[in-house]
Amino acid sequence: MRLVILDNYDLASEWAAKYICNRIIQFKPGQDRYFTLGLPTGSTPLGCYKKLIEYHKNGDLSFKYVKTFNMDEYVGLPRNHPESYHSYMWNNFFKHIDIDPNNAHILDGNATDLQAECDAFEKKIKEAGGIDLFVGGIGPDGHIAFNEPGSSLVSRTRLKTLAMDTILANAKYFDGDLSKVPTMALTVGVGTVMDAREVMILITGAHKAFALYKAIEEGVNHMWTVSAFQQHPRTIFVCDEDATLELRVKTVKYFKVISTLNMGLEFTNLQKWHAFLTSQQGDPGLHYTSKKGT
Ligand code: PGA
Repeated sequence: MRLVILDNYDLASEWAAKYICNRIIQFKPGQDRYFTLGLPTGSTPLGCYKKLIEYHKNGDLSFKYVKTFNMDEYVGLPRNHPESYHSYMWNNFFKHIDIDPNNAHILDGNATDLQAECDAFEKKIKEAGGIDLFVGGIGPDGHIAFNEPGSSLVSRTRLKTLAMDTILANAKYFDGDLSKVPTMALTVGVGTVMDAREVMILITGAHKAFALYKAIEEGVNHMWTVSAFQQHPRTIFVCDEDATLELRVKTVKYFKVISTLNMGLEFTNLQKWHAFLTSQQGDPGLHYTSKKGT
């Protein structure tokens, strides 16, 4: 498990975007070799999506050979509703990049047979060869995707009733009117995300500090479903300083040192690593220089 701590939201978003960008480029995707990316919605990933769009517009990153699978979608909300996750993904990401819409998979919360829709989604992930990198966000109650407290840690894609905490948190998107907030969603399971080859979880803001503490300093607990990722062989928690407020100083110091050391592992050429260290001291983000030099 890695915990990468950045000074603020913008730097955390940029670090996450650089990491995704580097992973896709290193993979060398092509016609017979698609990179498969799991994606979240919510306010947290917006900064990361903005940066990825910037890298695409700079000519550094293409999504032509990328397949995406979104974590969740509300049930019963029309697909073209401004708050549906279809609308969110299109407006905040897909319409700005070169992904083939046929390769961008989002659960259909209006399917006549919701369980069949969930089963088909799992099948599509399998057919795509599994997910290379699943990017996720969490709620203040420690949910990952819509795996609310009490969800099975081996769960698969299914219909979930949203917890009251989630409904209250989402009310801001529905004019603060609780009666307008969907109460059910289709969501990938904890097990679905655990199957990904790598998982990156974005956690920012003081309101997520207790959840981050539960996620990494306490044991695996189905009441804080994100804690399951302690048991994933390749999980990176990317957070800002505010999200670390409930962690022990010892934990924060340890992971900050590890972050600096890990930076070196991204480089195979020691001279380049040294040049990077001297030019970007203190920046634990991965190296990224745009072709346009920005
Ligand atoms: P947020 O939502 O990014 O808007 O905080 C995340 C979530 O509830 O999973």
